[in-house]
Amino acid sequence: MAGRLKGKIAVVTAAGQGIGRAIAEAFVSEGAIVWASDINRDALNGLKRTKKRKLDVRSSRAVATFAEKVGPIDILANVAGYVHHGTVLDCSEADWDFSFDLNVKSMHRMISAFLPGMLERATAAGTGGSIINMSSAASSLKGAPNRYVYGATKAAVLGLTKAVAADFIQTGIRCNAICPGTIRSPSLEERIAELGKEVGGADKAFDLFVSRQPMGRLGTPEEIAALAVYLASDESAFTTGTANLIDGGWTL
Ligand SMILES: NC(=O)c1ccc[n+]([C@@H]2O[C@H](COP(=O)([O-])OP(=O)(O)OC[C@H]3O[C@@H](n4cnc5c(N)ncnc54)[C@H](O)[C@@H]3O)[C@@H](O)[C@H]2O)c1
Repeated sequence: MAGRLKGKIAVVTAAGQGIGRAIAEAFVSEGAIVWASDINRDALNGLKRTKKRKLDVRSSRAVATFAEKVGPIDILANVAGYVHHGTVLDCSEADWDFSFDLNVKSMHRMISAFLPGMLERATAAGTGGSIINMSSAASSLKGAPNRYVYGATKAAVLGLTKAVAADFIQTGIRCNAICPGTIRSPSLEERIAELGKEVGGADKAFDLFVSRQPMGRLGTPEEIAALAVYLASDESAFTTGTANLIDGGWTL
């Protein structure tokens, strides 16, 4: 199926690699006009048929300037996030603040900046809008070892998502979260390499990540993007405030 997002304007954060890039590509192939953004502008090279912009979602000023440039949109995909490795005993206040700023407050910044335009466009066109926030299965849904502050941030994303959904439910603006299991992305490869140093090789570390997925394999960014297209499209018009698990059975 193609054209499921025809006529819609979308913004994607962290579109340089991994899940964000796959989402930007899927939105384009379904007919959306896509603003692909990332803190690393060079990482956006090669993304076809997108408007590319450098954007650090940790900067309120940069987010406000970007929102002004882009104008009203229909779809906002908040993908940027960082995985801190460790328990509560490994998490300094600076680690806590960084993780919450990048994983949660960035969504507050983006939604605050783009929602007025989304409301305007939804009212003028008589259509709805869709906000998609990247959470994780490691959140309030599942405790995962060494994902202390990461899990706390991704649980907060679910609370933020439900709060926005409830406040704007009468306006046609929907807000949903995606909660992936272990997905093969460039940063996961880095985490595998890091763990490999502790467990005696990258292959062993890879097997450990796979072993927590009951299906016996990791997920792909494209599988997450397919869910994002559904949540962005009018096919999911009756869906808001949800935490969409896509985790290969990790939480079973
Ligand atoms: N990969 C997984 O297994 C997995 C599982 C569950 C949830 N997630 C979530 O999915 C999202 C994407 O993860 P991924 O592993 O696909 O991507 P990744 O970690 O490989 O890439 C992250 C991207 O974010 C960009 N970025 C970093 N800081 C930024 C900032 N301040 N502003 C804008 N962009 C910034 C980077 O340049 C990079 O392109 C994250 O929120 C992550 O927590 C990932």
